[in-house]
Amino acid sequence: MSHAEDHEGTRRDFLYYATAGAGAVTAGAAIWPLVNQMNPSADVLALSSIRVDVGGLSEGSQLTVKWLGKPVFIRRRTAEEIEEARAVEMSDLAIDADARNANLPAGAPATDENRALDETGEWLVMMGVCTHLGCVPLGDGAGEYNGWFCPCHGSHYDTAGRIRKGPAPQNLPVPPAQFVDETTILLG
Ligand code: FES
Repeated sequence: MSHAEDHEGTRRDFLYYATAGAGAVTAGAAIWPLVNQMNPSADVLALSSIRVDVGGLSEGSQLTVKWLGKPVFIRRRTAEEIEEARAVEMSDLAIDADARNANLPAGAPATDENRALDETGEWLVMMGVCTHLGCVPLGDGAGEYNGWFCPCHGSHYDTAGRIRKGPAPQNLPVPPAQFVDETTILLG
């Protein structure tokens, strides 16, 4: 075998292994395993901030985008959802009373105002990863608190994404997010 052929053979091997590796990642991504969250690939880390156009989102609907390899829920809440979330007393938040909002100082209380992205409370942005063992909760008014429900072990989140019942120990975290114009949210 000439030197050139040898080199080509090595490159083919590399391509084969790279393709096989990508296939494995795709298969695993379907269930968002915890191990993947803790070990994001290099291309995922490079994409540390993204812009999301939410102009087409109507009231009462939700968008799921992928950021840093994890799902992020962006919901345009209805007036009823906001009202329900704002009527909750701090004493009702027995499992987790921390806002878990990366845009606020650590330890801020989990009022709805401290969870929502804007003052009116219309926009709610949070990680779509159950804080128990990492499943993706179901949305659109799911669960006993009309917010999100994780069917893996039965965790119920309210319309502000706060854990109210079940084994999950924390509220769904709010990632760094802001509006950069009327219809664009910057994540990260
Ligand atoms: S992973 Fe959600 S309840 Fe266990």
